[in-house]
Amino acid sequence: MRQSSLVVVANRLPVDDSVAPDGACEWRRSPGGLVGALHPILQHTPATWVGWAGDAGPAPTLPDIDGVRMHTVALSAEDIRDHYEGFANATLWPLYHDSVEHPSFHRRWWEAYHRVNQRFAAAAAEAAEPGALVWVQDYHLQLVPGMLRALRPDLLIGFFLHVPFPPPELFMQLPRRAELLLGMLGADLVGFQRVQAAHNFAQLAAKVLKVPATDRRIAVEGRVVRIGAFPVSIDMAEMEALASRPSVAARARQLRTDLGDPRRVVLSVDRMDYTKGIEHRLKAYSELIEGGHIKVHDTVLVQVAVPSRERVAQYQILRDRVEREVGRINGEFGRVGEPAIHYLNQPFDRAELAALYRVADIMAVTPLRDGMNLVAKEYIAARVDDTGALVLSEFAGAAAEFPQAYLVNPHDLDGLKLTLLHALDASPEDVTDRMRGMRAHLRVHDIRAWARAYLTALDRTGTLAARLAP
Ligand code: ADP
Ligand code: F6P
Repeated sequence: MRQSSLVVVANRLPVDDSVAPDGACEWRRSPGGLVGALHPILQHTPATWVGWAGDAGPAPTLPDIDGVRMHTVALSAEDIRDHYEGFANATLWPLYHDSVEHPSFHRRWWEAYHRVNQRFAAAAAEAAEPGALVWVQDYHLQLVPGMLRALRPDLLIGFFLHVPFPPPELFMQLPRRAELLLGMLGADLVGFQRVQAAHNFAQLAAKVLKVPATDRRIAVEGRVVRIGAFPVSIDMAEMEALASRPSVAARARQLRTDLGDPRRVVLSVDRMDYTKGIEHRLKAYSELIEGGHIKVHDTVLVQVAVPSRERVAQYQILRDRVEREVGRINGEFGRVGEPAIHYLNQPFDRAELAALYRVADIMAVTPLRDGMNLVAKEYIAARVDDTGALVLSEFAGAAAEFPQAYLVNPHDLDGLKLTLLHALDASPEDVTDRMRGMRAHLRVHDIRAWARAYLTALDRTGTLAARLAP
């Protein structure tokens, strides 16, 4: 087994499978995200990515992707049901997102979560060379840092949580709360999206584990664990380059024609997830039509809702409700060839997403709770001509970085309607001023800056971060 000095551990591998022209299965690097951020160091460091390939059964052997070894962790159908769909996405996910849906607790799910985390920890221990840096990602793997430290005390271990970390009132409901906290505290550095999340974590460590804790440091088991906020970002340059392509600009023009050349296009792009506020947004939009504030031939809403976690009951229920509501709104307010809402429940490639961002005069990103929301950042990056109004929920991590957005509380329907109208009717000067400010911020705080900040904090010798040249 070849070992690496850098190991990334995440629930999913950064690959997509696609069918090659000869019908064979081809694995490609999935675009954007963490793998893009780490690309410069992954290229120059013997690196391994430990993760799941997305299907049940034995682990497929994958080729190296851009020089990075893919170490596949096998999950059985039962593991997927109880770990991924169960404890990760029906216990932790709703609980960490303000309990906007009810979290379910099942002992069998916990056992699977523990078992699968142990498997990921063992895989990471196998892949890491002596003294290596191991960076564990997200809520699916919160026990891995502690398990890995027990297996390999020589490693430098980082943990980053991409989703919100809840306040004590919510987290205290978790039956296995102490074990989850101790699992994360196996890391040398625990990173969050927002300062508030680090604060919640410190409060919980003090309350549940009775250990000395501040918003920067927690003393546990004879070690000091550092904690902090490192807001994740996107590859701005990559999205700008894509959105600037003549073919993408032409596709955006075509989309506008296909939409009936409306004066204004409003766009939302979400995973089909109850945290994204899709139902609240549809209600606000339909009331604006009903109240005569929006005319269907003049303004259209494009709602992209990519299928997600489709075997989890709450996601199935949400999809039915959204589809019924879109049907109702189009039935009531649309005309032949002129729907009020264009609803797309499908994945798109990056170029099509960039074209959609380019065609959108108004982007409505109104989650009820979101760790960051990368769609908001992708929209800003794609607006290469400094136009476009971003309506952004106060409850998205991104809101802390973009005070220039049209910020809104998505629970307040009247406020949501007013803010949408404000963005729809804003002067071009106001829109451009705001967009320029947001683009300037994003240019500096891109994904490389995020990875550099985190890795510099984790590896104080600076060896790895130095390879992330600007
Ligand atoms: P989350 O992490 O909850 O899914 P984010 O907004 O942070 O939410 O990230 C969503 C990612 O999924 C973005 O990179 C976005 O471009 C991508 N995405 C969203 N909708 C689609 C779609 N229909 N097709 C392909 N990618 C999509
Ligand atoms: O942002 C949270 C997250 O779970 C990411 O880890 C993941 O990339 C995304 O949502 C999509 O979720 P899933 O892996 O369940 O399809």
